Amino acid sequence: MSNIPDNFKEKIISLCKRRGFIFQSSEIYGGLKSAYDYGPLGVELKRNLMNEWWKSMVHKREDVIGIDASIIMHSKVWESSGHLSGFSDPLVDCLISKERFRADKAPRPKIGDDLPINCNDKGQAKDYQKQIEDRFKIQLKRTGKILKGLKLIDKNTFGHFDDDNDIPTKTFEYRGYVGPTFGSPFLSDERQFNLMFRSQIGPVDVLGQITKYVEENRKLNSDDLRKGIDNLVKESAVYLRPETAQAMFVQFLNCQQTMSMKIPFGIAQMGKSFRNEITTEHFIFRSCEFEQMEMEFFVEPGSQKEWLEYWRDNRMKWWQKFANYPENFRYREHEKDELAHYADACYDIEYKYPWGFDELEGVASRTDYDLKKHAENSGTKLSYFDQQKMDPNSGKNGWRYTPYVIEPAAGATRGLLVYLMDAYHEEIVKDASGKESTRVVMKLHPKLAPIKAAVLPLVKKEGLPEIARKIVDELFNSSINARYDEQHSIGKRYRRHDEAGTPYCITIDGQTKEDNTVTIRDRDSMKQERVDLKDIINIIQKKLSLS
Ligand code: GAP
Repeated sequence: MSNIPDNFKEKIISLCKRRGFIFQSSEIYGGLKSAYDYGPLGVELKRNLMNEWWKSMVHKREDVIGIDASIIMHSKVWESSGHLSGFSDPLVDCLISKERFRADKAPRPKIGDDLPINCNDKGQAKDYQKQIEDRFKIQLKRTGKILKGLKLIDKNTFGHFDDDNDIPTKTFEYRGYVGPTFGSPFLSDERQFNLMFRSQIGPVDVLGQITKYVEENRKLNSDDLRKGIDNLVKESAVYLRPETAQAMFVQFLNCQQTMSMKIPFGIAQMGKSFRNEITTEHFIFRSCEFEQMEMEFFVEPGSQKEWLEYWRDNRMKWWQKFANYPENFRYREHEKDELAHYADACYDIEYKYPWGFDELEGVASRTDYDLKKHAENSGTKLSYFDQQKMDPNSGKNGWRYTPYVIEPAAGATRGLLVYLMDAYHEEIVKDASGKESTRVVMKLHPKLAPIKAAVLPLVKKEGLPEIARKIVDELFNSSINARYDEQHSIGKRYRRHDEAGTPYCITIDGQTKEDNTVTIRDRDSMKQERVDLKDIINIIQKKLSLS
């Protein structure tokens, strides 16, 4: 089932801005592409989500401990993990439109297919037609904003064909794909692009060093010059972490020994990660700065399959627990050729986004790859000794081994997007006179809702605000995030809190002064119950704990 509107982008993004969930970063300067700021309600929602994860992964388990590591780590960490060499995407430029894209995600037409170049408008089509004529000496036919005449001949060749002619006037080398926006097959070579953000640490004048190096090595060819500059920059280079996971491997021994942990046990961490993503898309789904919630669970070699299934199911239940539509989540097992270099099996927990099922969390069996690599490159033994077990190789008592690792790796900001989509509802409601209107309501799980209770005096006089403020203070003293709100009519205030996802509205009215009662309105059913003022904290606490 889905409640997500077709034009979700406009609706959800505009609600996020209107109600203070998410703003475009640096908006007053025109905004920074794919960077977002979490506003007053967004920060609460994100913290509630991450705190629920922490509670379920760390506070409610004896076998998992937490850490909070530096975002900048020793660059050897990234060499060992393979991120420095392998964490890169093949990038290509379209020679005509200058569009830059990832080769591995580009469309791959079939042999024999026409390769039309789809321009944005006639003017652009004329411009591209001329560029292609000047550069490749062929005259493509223009129909409106489409350029025609190219066809895929075989897996290595495409050609230009005049009208009905079967013989190409000219052939070109085909790279296996076309540009995603315009469909152009005129492409540059692939270049590797590292997704990690690099910076320099310490009081180094890198530009000065580079200038000096270039002056002293003017005779070098451009490849050697580039290599030399790269080595120079590498000396003081540091990287913003692209995943939180590596700190748990690097701190494995410190954590295990200080907390006397016995295998199986896990180390959890949540926080910011950074990737210089080429394709940032779907609002906060894929951005350059995002938050992760990851746990490395260290297990005995041979038990990884059983633990992988355990964590896959555990994590799936956790996501579904806070959702209105648990049926919108599913697992997908990775094919062998899809697995990361360190994994022997992996499941993605996927959500049904408006563009189809896509990843929300990966639960991977990471083998002993990372601990072994860090042990090899640091010279520190990252192993575990189990006195109670027999060494399967020697048959003697006591077994020293490198643990295998199961890793549930979730996106916190992506999870927030999922729950925003799951919560978004439009309902037709009638007022007292029978007039219909659309109610937008965010049916966020009460544990995730940014504001738990709004306290609303019906009017701004007759002592009602004073009673309301007293209730707010009591809610604050009970650690319940509440909000006093007296602006606009009561109907408008209910709608405002429906959009904010506030599960309970407490209204103080004329009757409150007569018999010390208030009403509690339930966000989803819109039903109101009248309760004793003195019971209000208990009632809200009970509702929140039962939810
Ligand atoms: N340590 C393993 C790891 O980082 P991943 O699949 O690359 O695995 C885990 O990332 C999760 O982090 C993803 O399932 C996704 O939810 C989130 N994530 C990854 N890249 C992201 C990005 N650019 N923007 C937002 N979330 C991202």
